[in-house]
Amino acid sequence: MNTLCLERLLWLAIDPRADDEEPHAIEDFVYHRPVLQREVLGLLKPKPGFLIVDGTCGGGGHTEALLQSGADVLALDQDPDAVQHVSERLAHFGRRLIVRQANFRHAASVLDEREELTRLFRELGEEPAARRIASLIVKMRRTSPFRETLPLARAIEKLVGRHGRHHPATQVFQALRMEVNDELGALEEGLRVLTARLAPRGRIAVITFHSLEDRIVKNFFRDHSREWLDKPEWPEPQRNPDYDLELVTPKPVEPSDEEQRANPRSRSAKLRVAEKI
Ligand SMILES: C[S@@+](CC[C@H](N)C(=O)[O-])C[C@H]1O[C@@H](n2cnc3c(N)ncnc32)[C@H](O)[C@@H]1O
Repeated sequence: MNTLCLERLLWLAIDPRADDEEPHAIEDFVYHRPVLQREVLGLLKPKPGFLIVDGTCGGGGHTEALLQSGADVLALDQDPDAVQHVSERLAHFGRRLIVRQANFRHAASVLDEREELTRLFRELGEEPAARRIASLIVKMRRTSPFRETLPLARAIEKLVGRHGRHHPATQVFQALRMEVNDELGALEEGLRVLTARLAPRGRIAVITFHSLEDRIVKNFFRDHSREWLDKPEWPEPQRNPDYDLELVTPKPVEPSDEEQRANPRSRSAKLRVAEKI
């Protein structure tokens, strides 16, 4: 039994006998009694909010007990029959269970596929239900990939419900758009090429609507407006080779209350301006 604990992510139930045994008939799984189940539960202490990876789900005995404790489970097995059996037998746990045919040596990439989406929705979309939405997408696209926006919007609405004026999928679509278009990469490059082409005393003004975009502009302007660079390990400060701007707005300019009232979309806007030296 190997148990790898990464924050709230627990990997368990790698049955040391699994590699030595003859392949199981599916009937065996049905009657398979999970070994050391009470001990596993006592030691991993699964509860709602945990994601547990069962690296060898087999007949799904451990997986079932973990689900019953309220944890979510990503169940892996290299045997397609086991995957089909567990998917069907434990289907009533709904979205809390994801079953994948995979060798547990590839567990990281199976997780990354899901976690990559979670990161995207959380960071680019600032979406509170990022993890649940990522799990739903990974699960649904296994049977039929999303080719249009409407089925995805409907699935998200069904999962998180409708609150407020905006459609619940708005943040997710924002994140996907930013990623697909590499909008943050484009912003960095645009700042670089346009600043290089500015005439002396020419000004560059950038309005952003997202905190990550604003951070890119803030850092770019900061990195280009410091004449000298210093580090504790350097004997003396050095001239900054990127120094070519002066800050016109040390702090971002935000829309007035009046503008925000008249145009609610302006609420997240931030304007920063710099001048070429
Ligand atoms: C004894 S069963 C596991 C029983 C399971 N814990 C239960 O409660 O029903 C062993 C399973 O491990 C799977 N297995 C063995 N090595 C594996 C690997 N490297 N990656 C994924 N699955 C593996 C086998 O296909 C088999 O289904």
